[in-house]
Amino acid sequence: MSIQIAIDGPAGAGKSTVAKRVATRLAIPYIDTGAMYRSVTWSALQNNISLYDEQALVALVDNCDIQFIPGEPEQKVVLNGQEITTAIRTSDIGALVSTVATHALVREKLVQRQQQMVNTTLGVVMDGRDIGTHVLPLADVKFFLTASLHMRAKRRFDELVLKGYSGLYEDVVCFVAKRDELDETREASPLKKADDAVLLDTTALAIDEVVEMIIALCKYRQSQKRG
Ligand code: CDP
Ligand code: CDP
Repeated sequence: MSIQIAIDGPAGAGKSTVAKRVATRLAIPYIDTGAMYRSVTWSALQNNISLYDEQALVALVDNCDIQFIPGEPEQKVVLNGQEITTAIRTSDIGALVSTVATHALVREKLVQRQQQMVNTTLGVVMDGRDIGTHVLPLADVKFFLTASLHMRAKRRFDELVLKGYSGLYEDVVCFVAKRDELDETREASPLKKADDAVLLDTTALAIDEVVEMIIALCKYRQSQKRG
């Protein structure tokens, strides 16, 4: 099935987990746009570039070749030939990425890349913060995933504990809330539900339930499109 699916929402809503499974089920590519903002942030830190210097960040983006390479258990993120899949998932990058994402010119460049990455024959599942509103305004189906702050923070906390985190749950709540605030209040394409996106509150839903709901709606929309 060739279909373009946009998934947006705040941190911990389940976007990437659900997007990956939907992509596998429908056998279409998955593009993790958050990984692109994380890659630029990682590269800026490596190159001692200030996260507030928009011009320097734009020049950096021009020199960043970001590739998604299929792999198990997840696709690999490769920047200029170097695999950085795990390196971009640290809490340091998580704490800084939203600052990089505030710059309009950085966004413009990355959005252009994201649009070019879409395979119009196969279709795509793309997740992020501005997919339905800016990157794929004409997507066949758009979803805005959300969940209560406490549930989203709990999901993040559980993930961090598995990685050895021994800090407080309350700190994770603050961290998630801060990132949401930055994403929702920035001037350049803030996190916002597209008018034509389907709102899915996943607070009380298991991953599989969300996946099934998304696939059901995608199939229905496709059957309507075919007439
Ligand atoms: O997976 P998680 O919710 O932690 O975040 P992510 O999807 O990896 O995105 C990290 C950050 O990149 C977000 O908090 C946003 O600041 C930024 N981002 C964005 O501004 N626009 C996108 N399309 C994707 C991510
Ligand atoms: O990409 P985003 O930040 O929106 O969230 P995620 O990284 O896909 O999900 C964060 C964590 O919550 C993952 O460990 C998921 O397995 C978990 N999750 C869940 O338990 N139930 C859901 N309905 C969605 C996600």
